[in-house]
Amino acid sequence: MIKVLDIRIEKTTSPKEKPDANHLDFGALFTDHMFVMDYDINKGWYNPRIEPYQPLTLDPSAMVFHYGQEMFEGMKAYKGVHNEVLLFRPEKNIERTNKTNDRICIPKIDEEDMLQAIRTFVDLEKDWIPEADGTALYIRPFIIATDPYLGVRPSNTYKFMIIACPVGAYYTEGINPVKIWVETEFVRAVPGGVGEAKTGGNYAASIKAQMKAKERGYTQVLWLDGVERKFVEEVGTMNVFFKIDGEIITPELTGSILAGVTRNSVIELLNQWNQKVTERRITIDEIYEAHKEGLLEEVFGTGTAAVISPVGELNYNGNIITINNNEIGPLSQQIYDTITGIQTGAIEDTFGWTLKV
Ligand code: COI
Repeated sequence: MIKVLDIRIEKTTSPKEKPDANHLDFGALFTDHMFVMDYDINKGWYNPRIEPYQPLTLDPSAMVFHYGQEMFEGMKAYKGVHNEVLLFRPEKNIERTNKTNDRICIPKIDEEDMLQAIRTFVDLEKDWIPEADGTALYIRPFIIATDPYLGVRPSNTYKFMIIACPVGAYYTEGINPVKIWVETEFVRAVPGGVGEAKTGGNYAASIKAQMKAKERGYTQVLWLDGVERKFVEEVGTMNVFFKIDGEIITPELTGSILAGVTRNSVIELLNQWNQKVTERRITIDEIYEAHKEGLLEEVFGTGTAAVISPVGELNYNGNIITINNNEIGPLSQQIYDTITGIQTGAIEDTFGWTLKV
């Protein structure tokens, strides 16, 4: 028997005006509703509902405010060429939710329940999906610990919520190359830490270096490993790929790197195209060496928010290199076109990645 979540829906009586799809900031404007489900150690997950988007009332001692026991996901919904609503590999985000939950002691969510919650919510908000090129409805599921308690332990109560916002490009550069600062003072994650978990603390820890990079005119930070500070890990909000002498290399997942859904999709796509793609540890020196020899062809980041973002410049301890004349490389462009084409249904999805809502 298929288990069905009984979601109560209360629609807003004052729907907001939809924004101009050609001028969308990332993450600044939210849709009319939100999904909420509660957890209690004695009841499990209960009371799934969709309500008008509104502020929350929480006790100031709620554990999430003090010890950061929380997780989040990021995914997108698209309006397909036949006006259908498409999700991209939602099962991957759901799987990762439970991996994060496990790492930071949040109770698991039933995978079918989470998928049903996402589908029901997106279906209700489908008129908010923008249709201009490069836009989507960004979906943000998240869980917060709500026990009013100041001792350090797992909370006994939580809220699982989903909110959404119509978005354009994450970076103001859009698909144009970004400039990246290689961070050598601060680190993002260490072996055995929470680097591969999608939890807010990882992002809070990244802001200082990001500000440093921004002051120097850089869009994002490239993180090195936390021990030897020489192996490349990831970029602020993206995984990273290097094309060196025909081979495409991305740092292997060692536990301190986020296992991106777009990262995985790019690897599968490159395999299908019979391009040589290798997941291995790679040092920043190797990248600079390859550049010196004229072998560094392209660098690009991958992420749900950013999609594919070419890197046009790296600054490592003041040594600046320009990649592919600071232009979008042919591989980055081809991957961007294919991934977004599959996401919007414009290109046939031979992988079975898209799911109709
Ligand atoms: C995403 O790409 O969806 C993320 O979660 C990164 C976020 C910091 C915008």
